[in-house]
Amino acid sequence: MHLVSINDLSHNQILDIFNITKHFEKNTDIVNTYKIPHILYNLFYEPSTRTSSSFQAASLLLNGSVIAVNEVNYSSVVKGENLEDTIITAGCYADVIVLRHPETGAAERAANISTVPVINAGDGNGEHPTQTLLDVYTIWKHFGRDDELNFNDLTITLMGDLKNGRTVHSLAKFLSKFNIALNYVAPEQYQMPDEYMCDCSVKYQDLTNIASLTDVLYMTRVQGERGSQFHYQLTKENVEQFKSNMIVMHPLPRNQELPMWFDADPRAKYFEQMKNGMYIRMALLYTILRDK
Ligand code: NCD
Repeated sequence: MHLVSINDLSHNQILDIFNITKHFEKNTDIVNTYKIPHILYNLFYEPSTRTSSSFQAASLLLNGSVIAVNEVNYSSVVKGENLEDTIITAGCYADVIVLRHPETGAAERAANISTVPVINAGDGNGEHPTQTLLDVYTIWKHFGRDDELNFNDLTITLMGDLKNGRTVHSLAKFLSKFNIALNYVAPEQYQMPDEYMCDCSVKYQDLTNIASLTDVLYMTRVQGERGSQFHYQLTKENVEQFKSNMIVMHPLPRNQELPMWFDADPRAKYFEQMKNGMYIRMALLYTILRDK
């Protein structure tokens, strides 16, 4: 099984992954039933801190070994090797490939040729499905019910670079299947592309009118490397309007949009969200390798 888009997983599969994630979160001492020796090929054509190291940690905790090609400049990519040949090569040595690439659609190309499962760790401004799994897991833990994927009645606000941020593209694809209120806050030029709009989504230019209604505020960085350029920042006035039980999320890394003074607020959940990433990736790797 490949994971190129968040739509590749059914809701039952996601619930299964969430329940395994919960188990891993509670039992860091992994019992033998979950040990699954394997080799993971971590192939990153773009910078990464959290995604690459959490995949690496997840693999090691499951008794795997990692071939880390985090800096493709030291691989045959600099000799002009194409993505397809690199993927075939990785498949000769590893059981699963994690790929991050600057081109939208690269993960699909890789999956089409690969003999082993390919996991999309971000393709250009396309998708980032494992980020969505950990994002949704974080929301589910705070607002969901154990036995079902249900986000009905939540007001979820995505704010920032909605045009070029891939995390919000995968997240919007997933969330639009639920009966929720989905708000998109961005300057017009950086608003959510039409393909991610749904009956439940509404565009706004700023947070002021919806800050007090929001249950989940998901902020994103301005993607300078993809040509985006604008400034925005969470303000103390926004925070004063927040509900007491809402949460603020961010895939990280952050720039100036999310000031550090907010970190001490109990509604700041981005570090917890980041930690969930390791458990989610353990559960995902376990599921993919088990079903291989
Ligand atoms: C995100 C990404 O790479 O898309 N980072 C991550 O994986 N947590 C977000 C970003 O770079 O802005």
